[in-house]
This record gives sequence, structure tokens and C-alpha cells, in this order.
Amino acid sequence: MEHNFLCPNCRSKIVLPFCLACGHQVPLVNSIYHFCDAESVKLEGEKQYIGYDHIGENFEPEITYWDANHTERYGVYAVCGDLIAKRFGTDICVLDLGAGLGTASIPLAKNGIYTIAADISAVMLATAAKRAGGRFDHLILARMNAYDLMLPDNSMDIVVENAMMHLVDKPECIMQEIVRVLKPNGKLIRYVSPGMPLTEKEAEQNKYCSQVLADISDRYYQFLEAHQYRSTVFLQDDGRLLAEYFEQPYREIADGFTEIFTDKLKFRLHRLKTGAHSDLQCTPKALLHAAWQHADHDARVKYGENYMEIKGFSKYGAGLDIYIVKK
Ligand SMILES: C[S@@+](CC[C@H](N)C(=O)[O-])C[C@H]1O[C@@H](n2cnc3c(N)ncnc32)[C@H](O)[C@@H]1O
Repeated sequence: MEHNFLCPNCRSKIVLPFCLACGHQVPLVNSIYHFCDAESVKLEGEKQYIGYDHIGENFEPEITYWDANHTERYGVYAVCGDLIAKRFGTDICVLDLGAGLGTASIPLAKNGIYTIAADISAVMLATAAKRAGGRFDHLILARMNAYDLMLPDNSMDIVVENAMMHLVDKPECIMQEIVRVLKPNGKLIRYVSPGMPLTEKEAEQNKYCSQVLADISDRYYQFLEAHQYRSTVFLQDDGRLLAEYFEQPYREIADGFTEIFTDKLKFRLHRLKTGAHSDLQCTPKALLHAAWQHADHDARVKYGENYMEIKGFSKYGAGLDIYIVKK
């Protein structure tokens, strides 16, 4: 399937990589089409956003996606990709907006779906490219700004958006872009992982893990706050905006899928240790390192040398929240 994009130079419709109207060629560098060269993080002026060039692979370390036999394991994201293929077929175009490390895009492409993984961060897309390993010619990795998508009106069957909307200061502009590129009957989809009931013992284990995690995180942030740390967050009401542009979503849950996750502490602390949090953008690396040293030292004293091995317990399914554009 050939898909149309917009030329970033003259905005004519193009089939990659050439614009027949102005002769511009969209640069393809290490499997990523560069539709824009804007900075990864923009915190001044109009239309601010937090791209993840400073976070990269530390957002979700490789280990999350490979099991002990080095088999790919995309969990909820794989199940959601399969569910989209089952529910909407594979002869569709999906835009994964704020695609990050390709966690949603790769399972969609595995299903044979033409998938555009768009992200402002070349670093995130480079990991997505590494994980995709050149296996899918219908997976397009595109460095694009969600504020100004280089996609024609009414061109996408589905836009998948997971955990990107809180990283922009004008989410209403992104909603308008999503509505613009969706076909008349197109859908916005968000992945969900509804929790399942736990036994008393499992709940206790999870509670203890959450307390330890909260305690260590508090120490980390207290240290930062005592050293002129400036948090970078955009306040917004996602629900109100969604209700403005879309009908009430309907939820479709995958049959027979249950995941148990016990490594919450290790996983979240890896992000603290490496400063892989969107709110830490303006904090010098040396200060992040010092905050981690402080929190880690206290945690060893309080919970023992092997505190990283403290297990949580969560159990959840997988599904889609499917939004239809309001008429
Ligand atoms: C929290 S990550 C989520 C990644 C992925 N959707 C997932 O579920 O794993 C958010 C991503 O949004 C990207 N992002 C932030 N602002 C953006 C913008 N204006 N345009 C495109 N991507 C953006 C970041 O670079 C980051 O990769």
C-alpha cells in the first residue's frame, strides 16, 4: 500500500520520498524519515512540548520487551495490536502518534497493518528502528511534530495515541490535528489495561512494594526540591477535551489475556536512576545523579542492599478505548 504524506517544504501531497511539485526529498536517515528538524523539547513560546531525546531507551529498557530466550514480548501492546487487526482488518492505515520506542507500532506492523510511527524524538525513533530491525516495509518511522502532522486531511483509518497528550501545552491543537487526519469514519484509539482482582496476599505484597517505591521517590524529589529543581509539567484536562471532539468511547477488552507484573519497583526506579521522567527536562544531569545517590543510599540502609528485588504484584487485562469523531 502506498500512502500519501505532505511535503514539509510546499505541503503538496507526496508519496515518499519525493515531492513532484517542488522537488524536495524527505531525508531518510537510519530508517527514519525526517519531516521536521524542530528541537526535541520546546518550552518557550507558542505550542510547547516535551519530546524524549533526553530519555530514549531508559523510558522502557530493552529487557521489558524480551524474555529470557530473547523472544519479543510486547504484552498489552501486542494484544491491543492484534485486537485492532481483528476488529478493523489489516487493510488500514494507522498513525501511532507519539510512538516513542515503537511499542504500539511494531505489534501493529507485525499484523501487516500499514503503520506510521510519528514522534518528535529522533532518539526514541532510533530505538524503534533498532527493535523493528528492518523487518517491515509497511512501518514508516517519521520524525514529525504532532502539532503539524505532515499527513493529508481524511487520510488515516485509526490514530493510536498512548501517553503523549500530557506532553504538550496545547492539547486542543493536537486533537484538531487528529480530527483533521482521520477519515470520516476514523477512530482514535487508546490502549487500556484494566486491573483484575488480587488475593489478600497479592494485594499485601503490592501495597508494600508501592509504599517502598513512594518512599524512595519522595526522597529523590525532596533532594531535587532542596536544590532548585524546576518541574516541567503541563496542566490539562484530557477528559474534557476528548468529550469536546469525540463521542463517549466504547471499550473492547481482549478475551483470555491476563498479565502479571511484579517488577514495578525495578522498572520505576530505573527511570529515576536515569532521570527518564518528562518533568525532569530542565534539571542538570549532575543534580539528578546526586538525587539518585541520596535516595539509593537511604534505601539500602532502610530496606537492605537488595531492595531493588522487592516485588510488587499487579494483574491486568488489555483492551481498547475507541473514540469516534463527533459529527
Ligand atoms: C510517554 S512517551 C509514550 C510512547 C508510546 N506512545 C508508548 O505508549 O510507549 C511519549 C512520546 O511522545 C513524544 N512527543 C512529545 N511531544 C511530541 C510532539 N509534539 N510531537 C510528536 N511526539 C511528541 C515523546 O518524544 C515521547 O516519545
